[in-house]
Amino acid sequence: MRIIIEANYDEMSKKVSKLIAKHIFYKPRTVLGLATGETPLGMYKELVSLYDSDLIDFHDITTFNLDEYLGLDKDNPQSYNYYMHNNLFNHINIPKDNINIPLGLATDIAKEAIDYELKIRRIGGIDLQILGIGRNGHIGFNEPDIKFEALTHVVKLDNQTIEDNSRFFDSMDEVPNQAISMGIKTIMRAKKIILMASGIEKADTIRDSIYGNITPTLPASVLQLHPNVTYILDKAAASKLDLHKTNIDLL
Ligand code: GLP
Repeated sequence: MRIIIEANYDEMSKKVSKLIAKHIFYKPRTVLGLATGETPLGMYKELVSLYDSDLIDFHDITTFNLDEYLGLDKDNPQSYNYYMHNNLFNHINIPKDNINIPLGLATDIAKEAIDYELKIRRIGGIDLQILGIGRNGHIGFNEPDIKFEALTHVVKLDNQTIEDNSRFFDSMDEVPNQAISMGIKTIMRAKKIILMASGIEKADTIRDSIYGNITPTLPASVLQLHPNVTYILDKAAASKLDLHKTNIDLL
């Protein structure tokens, strides 16, 4: 595990966007796993600006998003599909057919989950997976007590997640309570993982995910078992780490 600590949110966003650009530069056909939420917004902005400056070409990449709310149409402004187009895909040269996001309104949702998993498998897996983290330690929408063996599946959202995500909706009642998400096993099969976190409200979760027991109670703790994972944090999110007490690689 590597930990990179940047001074603030903007520096964290720039660092992650540069690492993504570097990956795509060396492997134009990169299969990228993408995350939503507030944390990656700055990073997406940076990627668009690298594209505008002709420093990165997205033509050959393929993307798979981690998750989508159940019951939201892809044109709904609160859907992750809308978020991704609005913040990244509409501004870069990725071919539409190379974009994969689970369908929150699929008629057969169980089949949608299996097909999504198979599509990832058929393309040869995810090269670089970007993750955020929920305050309860969820990655994707894999909530506490999830099975580590889970593949893409339908999940029930935790009360804390519903509360946290209600800021994007007009009222609590509008926040979906289910989602379709890559499973922990899907995520763990990615060749490289970058987890980004910013802000003091994530500091306890980050500390426990890195130093604590590996337990489904804190889904991100499973990343301790991944051979190539990098945490990219701002100072606030890293503020509860005691970096002298670990044998973690520091970059
Ligand atoms: C959502 C997403 C996660 C994301 C998390 C944290 O629940 N499904 O993938 O990591 O929110 O969001 P934020 O970055 O807004 O704190």
